[in-house]
Amino acid sequence: MNDASPDLAAVTQVQQQIWSKGDFAMVAGIVYNASENLAEALELIPGERVLDVACGSGNGAISAARRTWGGTVGADYVPALLERGRERAAAERLEVEFVEADAQDLPFEDASFDVAMSIFGAMFAPDQPKAASELLRVVKPGGRIGMGNWTPDGAVGKMFKTIAKHAPPPPGVDSPLLWGTEERLRELFGDGIADLRVERRISRQPFRSADHYIEFFRTYFGPTQTAYERVGPEGEQALTDDLQAFLEAANTAGDRALVLEAEYLEVIATRA
Ligand SMILES: C[S@@+](CC[C@H](N)C(=O)[O-])C[C@H]1O[C@@H](n2cnc3c(N)ncnc32)[C@H](O)[C@@H]1O
Repeated sequence: MNDASPDLAAVTQVQQQIWSKGDFAMVAGIVYNASENLAEALELIPGERVLDVACGSGNGAISAARRTWGGTVGADYVPALLERGRERAAAERLEVEFVEADAQDLPFEDASFDVAMSIFGAMFAPDQPKAASELLRVVKPGGRIGMGNWTPDGAVGKMFKTIAKHAPPPPGVDSPLLWGTEERLRELFGDGIADLRVERRISRQPFRSADHYIEFFRTYFGPTQTAYERVGPEGEQALTDDLQAFLEAANTAGDRALVLEAEYLEVIATRA
């Protein structure tokens, strides 16, 4: 297998294990606002059938269910996160179905949803054209696709680049951060969409300090935990130093705390 043709099924399997580590449900609380923003921007109304792709513990599905009053489905390939989504929906008495699925091979009929949303989710699938075509396929003509995608130069984009310097991704796989650019979105959705609106938005992420941030992500966020495992004891200090330097530069709260104002692209596409 050369760099030009990575084994995307094998990459997907490894990524599924990475997202199963830690406890993403803890991290989800920090980005919940992006789901609420997207559900508002999509102008969801009761009766619409909504699919949240790569839903994790259900942020998008829960935001959608509050507006559609039923008919919402969340899909992700980590069973433990789906279980957390079920617990959350039950606690809030919301009707959401959670289904185990790969974003690159969704187990749903063509045109079976009014809206597909994916917040910091489908962007991570290694087969980007397949993930885009699946989002298009399951939505009815005239329906909407809503996404939240980290931008390459935003704080979370920089965090991913920092850990990739120490624990590089498999060669030949496109960067997920490309989904945070209008150019790549147009390439991926092609003539499958009739309209595309993008808006740069901020996800505010407050922590007590850089140490608190690093400890939190190392404990709960699969990709950070995996990077530390990969560099081992000999690479640990260098990774921590680089993360601290990135956090110091990105901090918007001075010496009071560590606050990131992480940029992402909010995307609303209309299915042709
Ligand atoms: C950063 S989390 C975002 C979760 C959720 N959308 C949210 O906003 O809280 C990324 C999620 O994408 C899921 N994911 C990544 N690649 C996937 C794929 N190919 N198929 C299904 N889920 C995937 C992971 O399991 C994880 O739950």
